[in-house]
Amino acid sequence: MAVQAEAGSPTAQPWWDGAVIYQLMPRSFSDANGDGIGDLQGLQNRLRYLRWLGVDAIWLTPIYPSPLRDGGYDITDFTDVHPELGDLAGLHRLIEAAHGQGLKVILDLVLNHTSNLHPWFQRARFAAPGSAERNYYVWSDSEERYGTAPVLFRHFEDSNWQWDELAGQFYLHRFLHHQPDLNYDNPAVQEAMLQVVEFWLERGVDGFRLDAIPFLFEREDTRCEGLPETHAFLKRLRSRVQESSRRRGRPEVLLLAEAIQPMDEAMPYLDEGELNAAFNFGLTAHLFAAVAYGQAADLVQFLTELSERDVGRGWALPLRNHDELWLGDGHLVPQEVIHRIRDGLPAARGHWLNWGINRRLAPLLNGDPRPNMALHALLYSLPGMPCIYYGDELGMGDWPGLRDRDANRTPMAWTPERNGGFSSAPDPLLVLPPITAPGYDYRVVNVEVQKSLNGSLLNWHRRMLMSRKLLSALRHGDFRVLPSGHPSMVSYVRQSLEMTVLVAVNLSGTGASTQLNLTPWQGQRVRELLWGCDFPEATEEWFVYLPAYGFGWWLLGDAELSTSSKSAAGVASRSAST
Ligand code: GLC
Ligand code: CA
Repeated sequence: MAVQAEAGSPTAQPWWDGAVIYQLMPRSFSDANGDGIGDLQGLQNRLRYLRWLGVDAIWLTPIYPSPLRDGGYDITDFTDVHPELGDLAGLHRLIEAAHGQGLKVILDLVLNHTSNLHPWFQRARFAAPGSAERNYYVWSDSEERYGTAPVLFRHFEDSNWQWDELAGQFYLHRFLHHQPDLNYDNPAVQEAMLQVVEFWLERGVDGFRLDAIPFLFEREDTRCEGLPETHAFLKRLRSRVQESSRRRGRPEVLLLAEAIQPMDEAMPYLDEGELNAAFNFGLTAHLFAAVAYGQAADLVQFLTELSERDVGRGWALPLRNHDELWLGDGHLVPQEVIHRIRDGLPAARGHWLNWGINRRLAPLLNGDPRPNMALHALLYSLPGMPCIYYGDELGMGDWPGLRDRDANRTPMAWTPERNGGFSSAPDPLLVLPPITAPGYDYRVVNVEVQKSLNGSLLNWHRRMLMSRKLLSALRHGDFRVLPSGHPSMVSYVRQSLEMTVLVAVNLSGTGASTQLNLTPWQGQRVRELLWGCDFPEATEEWFVYLPAYGFGWWLLGDAELSTSSKSAAGVASRSAST
């Protein structure tokens, strides 16, 4: 069947199946009103760029009113927009405009906690102990309660409890001390947060990224993560969301979990009737470990386990995001994996924050575009939803030394002009300083310059995303790991009804050759997809050579590709306006 026919065929797949998600921080993306702070209008002005790049959805980190002591994850009003970003009408315009460009909009939803300035918390402090208002949060007379729950932000906090003078009690905060945890044992809290969800559904959002989802409930003698009560609430949330979509005759929305847990613990979120997707942070760590040491064995084993799990496409696949590259204390991935990353990526040295590395993708890879491409060749072809963190498509740098995770949250570089085209405001007013570090200066690393250079990283990403769009197997296909017999190489096959795609990636800085067993496709045609060239037909000992950090996507068999997809390179090199 022609590939193009597939795109238009009426399938029951939800919109997020195989979708590419672009994560951005609205305050750092684009400033329309010249006050130095990115805003919703600025983002709206850039939607054509995102469509040109070829992503399917945008995920906005929190846009709500907030004192911004934790990048907006400290919320004082769940049903409004931070005035610096715009207002509800502006959000409506943004959503409409995004939909007009074929882009979905995902909001960040923080269910676990509020800012200590939230009216609910202020009310709780004044209310009598044991009252419904006080019980919106989790209180204790001693810091011993839930003593087995680890401190997550260990570089900022040394306890999960904070004394409140007015209340005369400690309150629980799994994150920063100004972010009190809501008390989900209180049915009024559950109901209030379900109404928040309903509020945004009515405004037409297409999905939620559910922040810090494992921590909703606490119980003694546990890590207070992913408890059965939390899963029960999430099932309630899902059925409310489904009910609401049905009532309004709208397609279902994506519920995407941020649960930094090993696969076994993250899987239950994807159970029938619960959430639709979860980030696969274990995979992220394995990808970095593989490239750090040029060794693929652990990654291959991880992928093999992944292929044995049914949820395959329910995983969202990030390389980096707005937080530190979270590796954990040995709970998420084995200590050896963490050691490998620590020892194999010199740029990580001196940049550990909490349980991870506080750097952006390009600097972590020493500015070398080759491992960057190798990692994305995997990300864009593994089952699930690849996630791009704004600026990583350019190889944008970071500003180590800025407060907390601000190092990774600096303004997007659009042009070589003043402030990288992010804002017309004078320097001191900018939300964060644009990157001028050697090798990453915005006068060189920016959208405008890279668009005009055929061989730029940006155009490479675009070409890959174009190809992915045309390859149903990469978006919806089955996934089978193929033993490569080479210690630095990962290979696998993605297969849909329409086509079979073979992927091989070399994660080391030296060339790699091997023979792949393509017996199931014996005698079939093999075409390399990105440049559209023919290879020798499939055999039991099919020879492949990949240069340092090289990769290939090959089509096995005779699937008809439309003219435009014969060589996606052709697609990318055609100029397009943003
Ligand atoms: C999530 C967010 C992070 C935030 C934390 C507390 O992990 O990604 O940025 O600090 O939750 O809300
Ligand atoms: Ca602004």
